[in-house]
Amino acid sequence: MKRRHFILSMLSAGLAGPLRSTKDSRAGVTTTGGMSETPTVGSTGQAKPATIRAGQPLRALPKLVNQSKTPGVFEASLTAAPARLDVGAGQQTAFWAYNGMIPGPLIEATEGDRVRILFENRIPGQVSTIHWHGMRVPAAQDGNPTSPVASGSGHVYEFILPADSAGSYWYHPHPDRISAEQVYRGMAGAFIVNPKSDPLPGDIHHITAFITDLRLSATGAIPADNMADLMNGREGDHLLVNGQQNPVLTVAPGSTCRFRLFNATNARFLRLAFEDHEMTLIGTDGGYVETPVPGLREILLSPAERADVIVTFRRRSDGTVALQTLPYERGWMGGGKPPSQTLSLLTVRLAGVPVRAAALPTKLRKIEELGTPGATKRVEFGERMPKGEGMSMSGGGMDPTKMGRGMAIQFLINGKSFEMRRVDLTSKAGQVELWEVSNPTDMDHPFHLHGTQFQVTERERNGSRIKAQYPAWKDTVNTVPGETVRFKVRQDMKGLRMYHCHILEHEDQGMMGVLDVI
Ligand code: C2O
Ligand code: CU
Ligand code: CU
Repeated sequence: MKRRHFILSMLSAGLAGPLRSTKDSRAGVTTTGGMSETPTVGSTGQAKPATIRAGQPLRALPKLVNQSKTPGVFEASLTAAPARLDVGAGQQTAFWAYNGMIPGPLIEATEGDRVRILFENRIPGQVSTIHWHGMRVPAAQDGNPTSPVASGSGHVYEFILPADSAGSYWYHPHPDRISAEQVYRGMAGAFIVNPKSDPLPGDIHHITAFITDLRLSATGAIPADNMADLMNGREGDHLLVNGQQNPVLTVAPGSTCRFRLFNATNARFLRLAFEDHEMTLIGTDGGYVETPVPGLREILLSPAERADVIVTFRRRSDGTVALQTLPYERGWMGGGKPPSQTLSLLTVRLAGVPVRAAALPTKLRKIEELGTPGATKRVEFGERMPKGEGMSMSGGGMDPTKMGRGMAIQFLINGKSFEMRRVDLTSKAGQVELWEVSNPTDMDHPFHLHGTQFQVTERERNGSRIKAQYPAWKDTVNTVPGETVRFKVRQDMKGLRMYHCHILEHEDQGMMGVLDVI
């Protein structure tokens, strides 16, 4: 059987952790799709965490309602405030939530729309911002750490969604040094920009899967970051899709489904696969690719990346197909390494009268050819142990409140720790540049640039270069140890833009720089 073969090959590759979790959670949903308890991922040095109910029907993300009556205008408000919610743990958890929900409401608008969002920050004692991840919005509207919104006050973000910007984006806080905490306490949501006219046929099921992870203590509280989190980024114990643990999506056998997949976790690398079904990639961070890319067995989404994929489920089978995340070695520093295992994120249940698969168009869009770069930028990730600290690397058990930036390990870009008032790089608006991002460290770091989308041209490792096989718009790209990633990019709007590692704990601890577009 395929499944056994898969497990065996992982065992022989030395990758198998306790695979129990996936099996158990599947067992819990295959029969009735009713309630069941799923073992947790395994925590990093915490007491046994709470369990979360799995196997509920997948819910669609609640939409942020447009308050405007004017065509072409999207107007609404987002309020960040403490909220007590039961995510299926049988007890209330104190979150920080946008409009009282986890994840935040789905914002859906159309290319060309004017968007006006009133943000109110009711998080006690902390500044916040809303950053529009991946979206081409003016620098002053982008929720940078340089534009904090004080606790108890508000701010109106206003921007126009540019032509040809349809895609799957997301929003999250970006305050100086405390972004990681605000996100792991619940502040993040999806922002879908629809095209004016969509090349996809009408008989496709559209599913938005906003993936987060959550750590809960035995009492259902969200613990602060520990030492291992600060070094590696926080991986929660419960993987959630639209705020649910391993929910069930029921479709007819043969159905063609379009999944918008979002990695909205602080630090988890998702190696996604639909068991024995192949995926066809139709879009990346910045929207559609030019032509569908079929035959993918798995897709790696590093923190903040998105993928838009088509899966056609077999017509003859009934039963279930799990969307899984497979083991991935992303480099781990010190103790508290979560077990390497396959986990089920979502279970697709095939039931009912079989239907015919939808046909995909061969052409989805035209991606602009950026041309010859007129300048080059070099960015290098770095880590440094402060001298004389005598740090124990065992992880866990340390008081996170005593660990500010620089107390544990320093996370750097081009040898420097983030400083809001310092400009690190300068670009000319309208000029195409070549960026080279290299990672000489021992762990993966996903690189993200604000204000625009870029096109990866090649990856270089151990002297060998691999060219990108098709053009795609990206705003976040993973770099593995020893790798240099090159991309072409053009910033069209002036102002200050951030670039950083999207492991949020690394960003907060200084792995970020400031680009001035002049
Ligand atoms: Cu998604 Cu600078 O962030
Ligand atoms: Cu961003
Ligand atoms: Cu990093």
